[in-house]
Amino acid sequence: TWVDWDQYQVPIKFYILDVTDQVTYNGSEPIHNCMVEYSITPQNTDIGHYHIKKTKIPMKKGGNLIYSTVHVHPGIVNATLYGENGKVLCAVQPTYGTGEEPGNEKGYVVGMSGKVTITDLFDIEFPRGHIGIKNFQAELVDEHQNSLPLYEAYLHHYFVLRYFENVTMSRQANQSQPIYGKYFRRNDGVCQGSVNSYSWGLGVDARKTSLELPDPFRIEVGTHPENVPKEYNEEKWLFDIMVIDTRGTEDKKGCTECRCDHYNVKSEDFVSKTGIDGKPMSGDYKGGIFCCEKTSQCKLQKGYNNKQQRKAFLKYTITWVDWDQYQVPIKFYILDVTDQVTYNGSEPIHNCMVEYSITPQNTDIGHYHIKKTKIPMKKGGNLIYSTVHVHPGIVNATLYGENGKVLCAVQPTYGTGEEPGNEKGYVVGMSGCYPKPGSIKIQDGEILTVEFIHENKYNTGLMGHFYVYLAEELP
Ligand SMILES: *[C@@H]1O[C@H](CO)[C@@H](O)[C@H](O)[C@H]1NC(C)=O
Ligand SMILES: *[C@@H]1O[C@H](CO)[C@@H](O)[C@H](O)[C@H]1NC(C)=O
Ligand SMILES: *[C@@H]1O[C@H](CO)[C@@H](O)[C@H](O)[C@H]1NC(C)=O
Ligand SMILES: *[C@@H]1O[C@H](CO)[C@@H](O)[C@H](O)[C@H]1NC(C)=O
Repeated sequence: TWVDWDQYQVPIKFYILDVTDQVTYNGSEPIHNCMVEYSITPQNTDIGHYHIKKTKIPMKKGGNLIYSTVHVHPGIVNATLYGENGKVLCAVQPTYGTGEEPGNEKGYVVGMSGKVTITDLFDIEFPRGHIGIKNFQAELVDEHQNSLPLYEAYLHHYFVLRYFENVTMSRQANQSQPIYGKYFRRNDGVCQGSVNSYSWGLGVDARKTSLELPDPFRIEVGTHPENVPKEYNEEKWLFDIMVIDTRGTEDKKGCTECRCDHYNVKSEDFVSKTGIDGKPMSGDYKGGIFCCEKTSQCKLQKGYNNKQQRKAFLKYTITWVDWDQYQVPIKFYILDVTDQVTYNGSEPIHNCMVEYSITPQNTDIGHYHIKKTKIPMKKGGNLIYSTVHVHPGIVNATLYGENGKVLCAVQPTYGTGEEPGNEKGYVVGMSGCYPKPGSIKIQDGEILTVEFIHENKYNTGLMGHFYVYLAEELP
């Protein structure tokens, strides 16, 4: 994790003091003799359970102690750094693991073959305090931290949601109401209610799509009193993750598209359900998130042993800096190609459906399916970064200004091999646009157009989400 150097950064000197260092002197000049490692042979004469090893090391040059820790091997009880006057400068305690998982990640099992796993992880590990986030990156790994390929563990999506918790209230919550006592804070827009409200998120395209903001632009989070809703004091973060284990399935592509006829669901099941738009769903729903639910099982090849469990972990990396007056806040908007905007007077009413399907018609001309929509931006700003979240089959995606000018054109990267990040046939990443800050300005009330061009083939559960990062002020 790093920042570009500027006059507000303070340099650090890094010293390693080795307990094996037997210092001798040539006059006043110390001669160090570090052995790197040592062994313990307990002696009959040893008193107690502990082996104590210490040494005295002169520091030619001093400085202010900013941080101190140790590198040790198992069996360590503790380690202490003393000043010349005998004062403890730093006392370090070990943490011993108690489970099987690598590090301390919250693990979960990607069910069995063909299984859809949907997990909501509340209060994930996240940097605290008033900070500016520059980048968020995530991928699926196994218990040895090796990247898992998409053709075995398909990351349908991970979404990071921000919420505030009143712990007193949430302690009274039922299992059936996991969000009781939690107040969700959506991104800056523009979909209705809590639809597409996540702060970061990607899926199949997570490995090679950048969500990195250029300096000094950041997503501002953390204690900011006017930002905290009344009665909800603690800011926390939720991971919503959906993974499909496609090992041994009859049709991996159909499973990852969540095609209903591949899963153990019946169309009658939808009649009683409510869709994203709050209206009852129709029985002709062919595929998408409603066919990939917690208990969904995709069809397996005959005779495939479906008892092979596998562990998968979402490994994520957050890059941030402490907030100060040199950081410039960014607004994050998701423009969804399914958004059919209507108006109440001049007030836009958004109607994002999150996903869409393609049924190629005989009358379709050419190889492409073009989907576009017009979305008004209540508040404009300077375009700082833009990219998209998509599903396989995407050809390209374009964001246009009201005058028809291309503001950002995004191209896919398709994998060509076997290794994670380059899986053949999968869209492993999308490009992005970093216009020179100030060169593209979106006006308040400007109506943008998003266009997603897709292969003209039968496809369900597609997503076309344009990510638009705007700075209302420039440095
Ligand atoms: C717990 O569940 C019951 C039954 O669904 C409900 O009546 C009750 O209000 C719930 N408790 C809280 C704290 O919401
Ligand atoms: C949490 O909620 C309870 C019940 O509504 C309220 O009395 C309390 O003041 C809240 N806590 C905070 C820190 O706002
Ligand atoms: C339209 O706007 C008016 C005035 O703000 C409001 O009273 C009314 O409820 C709105 N109608 C709908 C359908 O949202
Ligand atoms: C997107 O792809 C279509 C079909 O190949 C092409 O006609 C169009 O020029 C592309 N758009 C951009 C911005 O690259």
